[in-house]
Amino acid sequence: MRVRVLPDYESMSAAAAEIVAGKVREKPEAVFLLPTGTTPLGMYRRLVEMHQREGLSFDRATFFNLDEYLGLPPDHPASYHVYMEENFYRLVDADPAQIHVPEGSAPDPEAECERYETAIREAGGVDLCVLGIGRNGHIGFNEPGAPFDSRTRVVRLAESTRRVNASDFEGDRAPERAITVGMATIFESREVLILASGANKARAVAVAIEGEISDAVPASMLRRHPNTTFLLDQEAAAALSLSDE
Ligand code: PGA
Repeated sequence: MRVRVLPDYESMSAAAAEIVAGKVREKPEAVFLLPTGTTPLGMYRRLVEMHQREGLSFDRATFFNLDEYLGLPPDHPASYHVYMEENFYRLVDADPAQIHVPEGSAPDPEAECERYETAIREAGGVDLCVLGIGRNGHIGFNEPGAPFDSRTRVVRLAESTRRVNASDFEGDRAPERAITVGMATIFESREVLILASGANKARAVAVAIEGEISDAVPASMLRRHPNTTFLLDQEAAAALSLSDE
């Protein structure tokens, strides 16, 4: 595990974008597993700028998203389909045929999970997985207690996660369930990059990096992954006893 601490959100986002750009330059047909949320917005913004200014191309890459709310149609404004189209996919030259987001409104969610997991396998597995971290240590929607051998599946969201995400929804009520890729799926990625910014992540980050490795803090399990980097801004790193490694 590597831990890199950058001074602020902007420099953390720039470093994350450089890692993604480096991967697609080195391997244009790379397979990415990507996050939503507030944290990666700066990274996506920079990747879009690199595409516009320098011609950084994603047209041979394959994209998977980590998760989607169960029951949301792809055009729902709070869906991760819409988030990804608006913040990244539509703004670069990603091939629509190579973009995969779990279908939250699939009539048979279990079958959708299986289909998604198969699609990742058939793409040859993930070259680079980028993650955020929840205040409770979740990764994707793998909430505390998520089994290490879990695959893409339907999960119940933690109440704390629903509260944090409530403002995205009319009536301030987030869905109760979601589809998420599993811990094992994330763990099989050849490289993992986990981003955290801001004081409200400091505790989760410190427990993930310096606490016990346990499924109670899903992000802590990444310390067993051979190629994981925690990319933090100073505020998110504030509760670590080691400031860098
Ligand atoms: P955030 O979400 O980037 O909006 O803080 C991170 C997460 O919950 O994984």
